[in-house]
Amino acid sequence: MLLHSAPQLLTLAGGPQRGARLGDLGLIEDGAVLIRGETIAAVGPSRDLLAAYPHEPRLDASGCAVLPGFVDPHTHLVWAGDRAAEFERKMAGARYLDILAAGGGILSTVRASRAASLEDLLAQTRPRALRMFAHGTTTAEAKTGYGLETAAELKLLDVLLRLDSEGPLEIAPTFLGAHAIAPEFKDDPQGYTDLICQEMLPAVRDGWHSRPLSRRRPLPFVDVFCETGAFDLAQSEQILTRARGLGFPLKIHADEFDNLGGASLAVRLGAASADHLVKTSAEDIAALGASETVAVALPCTPFGLAETEYTPARAILEADGLLALATDCNPGTAWNESMQFVIALACRTLKLTPAQAIAAATINAAHAIRRADRIGSLEAGKQADLLVLSVPDYRQLGYRFGGNLVRLVVKRGRVYEVAAGIRPWQG
Ligand code: NIG
Ligand code: FE
Repeated sequence: MLLHSAPQLLTLAGGPQRGARLGDLGLIEDGAVLIRGETIAAVGPSRDLLAAYPHEPRLDASGCAVLPGFVDPHTHLVWAGDRAAEFERKMAGARYLDILAAGGGILSTVRASRAASLEDLLAQTRPRALRMFAHGTTTAEAKTGYGLETAAELKLLDVLLRLDSEGPLEIAPTFLGAHAIAPEFKDDPQGYTDLICQEMLPAVRDGWHSRPLSRRRPLPFVDVFCETGAFDLAQSEQILTRARGLGFPLKIHADEFDNLGGASLAVRLGAASADHLVKTSAEDIAALGASETVAVALPCTPFGLAETEYTPARAILEADGLLALATDCNPGTAWNESMQFVIALACRTLKLTPAQAIAAATINAAHAIRRADRIGSLEAGKQADLLVLSVPDYRQLGYRFGGNLVRLVVKRGRVYEVAAGIRPWQG
């Protein structure tokens, strides 16, 4: 298929974008993409590709900007229930970490998720995955973390593997058994840390290649919530070091509420990303800037908690860091499936231009899940994951918010139309 006549074709070609390079869109005016099967076969000016491939089935993208599918590199997609009542309490003044310390917050979602069957979790999670896809996310990282015991964590992993194999949203799974101290270990955080290291991580690794849906997949990421009231720096290091020894790639939740040094730990251990980064120190920023660890900003989280402090994105770029954006989609701090909304928030709260935010939501986000060799840009040989917008100018992303500017989503070469509008009710 030859997609042609896009007034703006954003290729994002050339690999992840560090520091001042962020925002290089690789824009082709009146651009075209040739798709063969699941793969991009050629990218260039419409004039050239229409002449070179005259007999190809055509998709006319006149009036529509085209760009790579969004990659959402940090989500907690799988959970049961909701926390609307807690949201009300938080807006009336209750604090997130205090609610957690009192056995609510993450732990209330843990109770609901442990009690839910695999089928029930699938039924509750699938609409979120489809909403992500309809808003232009073609690949999302997704974490466990609402089980906090071996069997329940493995159940959540299985939900993610099932959803990934169903498609069309592609999922990069992450094991987050270290999301909170399990209620059974309320007074013994070190005991739970040891359980993760001695029982959970080996169980995930040993079971991985025998689980029906994971046989040929690379190991999932392992992530830790390094935070006051969750895992301290030494416990985070213990878990991540053990995970690395077992061959897992690493991620970390760092500096969401307090600075414990998690970002520098991520750099030291060669983690793929360090995420949140609100209370990040100048020293941590310098370490990130000199590393391959991607700094993942999650502006929906302070927004969702009605806080005023955000990731120091400009300082990270000045330090030559690799910056990416994600939703953090979760039931406690940020129930939002749309990377378009993240881009709009990032422009205003992180002071990014639309071009920088788009690069952070595509090629750099792909690098944050170590898949930039396959997704995140429109280049020959890469997977055919792309978006056809309903608008001709990419800057409408960021400028507009709360809606959906995606008209078509192309995933592995298959075209999906995003249904819009209304129709009379048939009763
Ligand atoms: O990234 N901080 C830890 N995890 C999530 C929140 C999860 C929850 O509250 O359920 C986050 O913000
Ligand atoms: Fe998170």
